[in-house]
Amino acid sequence: MSTSEQKTITVIGSGLIGRSWAMVFASGGYRVKIYDNQAGQAARAVMEIRKQLEELEEAHMLRGDLTSTQQLALLSSYEDLAQALEGAFFVQECVFEQLEVKQSVFQEIECFVGKEVILSSSTSCLVPSSVFAKVQERSRCLVSHPVNPPYYVKLVELVPHPETVTAVMEATHYLMTKVQTTD
Ligand SMILES: NC(=O)c1ccc[n+]([C@@H]2O[C@H](COP(=O)([O-])OP(=O)(O)OC[C@H]3O[C@@H](n4cnc5c(N)ncnc54)[C@H](O)[C@@H]3O)[C@@H](O)[C@H]2O)c1
Repeated sequence: MSTSEQKTITVIGSGLIGRSWAMVFASGGYRVKIYDNQAGQAARAVMEIRKQLEELEEAHMLRGDLTSTQQLALLSSYEDLAQALEGAFFVQECVFEQLEVKQSVFQEIECFVGKEVILSSSTSCLVPSSVFAKVQERSRCLVSHPVNPPYYVKLVELVPHPETVTAVMEATHYLMTKVQTTD
């Protein structure tokens, strides 16, 4: 099975959007580690995704070159944030749309990842300068806002923080183009 350069993405929060991102990234061959702070929620998310992938495959609507079984094998669930972040090059945050929650989530994430790891938020309405206000290394931060429903609408808005460097925008654009051009 060919995976995308064996790259790993961590999805934080496994509600509607977290599950959708996990499916989109797996369709592009990325390994996806799913974390949620509610006990059992990330594991339930993987079970829900399994059901959706099987239904999509049966309806010939599955995205990407991999089978539903292969895509499912790329997913794993975590209740420990440090373990969930281990090995990730990209983090997609999908927690509640509450500024304080997102700020503290990013502050916590930063304790467990290297400076080169890209931190991306799914926020719909919050501005990047607020969301990332408590992050030390803000040059690697941006908003990647998916249009709902993300599995079917292949459109993501990329919004930089004032300090975001071009390389981070380009790397995220590359990733999003790769996963959005899967069938
Ligand atoms: N729903 C949409 O149409 C839509 C579209 C685009 C973007 N968004 C954005 O995506 C984000 C998520 O939205 P959603 O609809 O999936 O929400 P949701 O309520 O369905 O899911 C949020 C998940 O985050 C988890 N969570 C909360 N606090 C956490 C924490 N501290 N650490 C880890 N997990 C935590 C919750 O347990 C829950 O599973 C929001 O910022 C929202 O604005 C939503």
